[in-house]
Amino acid sequence: MHLTKQEEAMLDGEMGEVAQKSLRLLVRLGEIYGADRMIPVGSVQVAGVSYKSIGDPGLDFLEDFAAKGAKVKVLTYLNPAGMDMENWKEIGFPEEFAKNQIRIMEAFRKMGIVVTATCTPYLAGNLPRFRENIAWSESSAVSFSNSVIGARTNREGGPSALAAALCGVTPNYGLHLDENRKPDMVIEVDANMEFNSDYGALGYHVGKLVKNKIPYFKGLNNPNTDQLKALGAAMAASGAVALYHAEGLTPEARDFDVSGLEKVQVGKEELKATFDKLNTGETPDIVILGCPHASLREISALADKVAGKTLKKPIWICTSRVMKEAADRMGFTGIIEKAGGRVVADTCMVVSPIEDMGFKTTGVNSGKAANYLPGFCNQKVIFHNVDELVKRCL
Ligand code: F3S
Repeated sequence: MHLTKQEEAMLDGEMGEVAQKSLRLLVRLGEIYGADRMIPVGSVQVAGVSYKSIGDPGLDFLEDFAAKGAKVKVLTYLNPAGMDMENWKEIGFPEEFAKNQIRIMEAFRKMGIVVTATCTPYLAGNLPRFRENIAWSESSAVSFSNSVIGARTNREGGPSALAAALCGVTPNYGLHLDENRKPDMVIEVDANMEFNSDYGALGYHVGKLVKNKIPYFKGLNNPNTDQLKALGAAMAASGAVALYHAEGLTPEARDFDVSGLEKVQVGKEELKATFDKLNTGETPDIVILGCPHASLREISALADKVAGKTLKKPIWICTSRVMKEAADRMGFTGIIEKAGGRVVADTCMVVSPIEDMGFKTTGVNSGKAANYLPGFCNQKVIFHNVDELVKRCL
């Protein structure tokens, strides 16, 4: 693997222990995957932020790195944390958990990382360019940036993303290369796709089918970006899809002739079977929307649905701090809170400790959340469209 003189010096420890360790990790990764060189990255998104996911070992590691002077070289954002960093007490996050989460965020802040914690960085000030090389971690953000934007990232682990942020480079392999971005299979969709949850169900089904391959969709009828993020998130969760193409919709789709590829049809029967499979609960203790983190359009739609109503069961909508501030200004947060719901920032239903907050059955409209909630949070799941979920809370 070719290294520049500066990278050689970094590897020899001339730029300190943190840079040396970080580049060593990237070089090893590059060697494993046959990278020819390092390439600069335009931005990074680091996972492994919630105290629930990384615990004390992760916290100690981050504080140690920060104390040794670790500083990022490029725009770096964080994945959701384990709690709302401003309203955690009011919402009821445990105090001990909060103390540790605050220490984690402080370690990241010392490294120069933007401590806005979201899986939709592209909606919150970290928007990559078409064909820009980046190093992002969170699987739905990876899918959206590769597929909908046409940026280039592998699905980084927390440590490799942090190392890329500290060195400003990533090994040149995988989805950074043209030849690895070709579709493997055509998915012909013939179903009425009305709600974001329909895209979540489609994504869950296709992810199971294609695993880590690259699907090429035909027949998607004018989805908006919220629906594309729901589709990609679910495919990345049930399979390991980091890139998809959609005819007429995603920027690289027109580059490929897919006439010789295997074709699979997906219709309403498959979607219904997916909804049936993912539904394991009856009555929700809580409904949590915003997986991936909600856009302003999704928050505004929820505000419309609950305006003037009184919720018997709480509804949270998870989002980035940036979107929440816009929702506050527009009065959407006030409307949702008046009904008995909450706009929760910086965290989500999967990485926060909802199982310790008395919730046993959670309603979601996300295929990704429905996939993870039973295992990660010990929850029974109600997977439905947002209208039905709101109805069940009244
Ligand atoms: Fe984001 Fe959490 Fe879903 S990180 S994609 S809201 S599981």
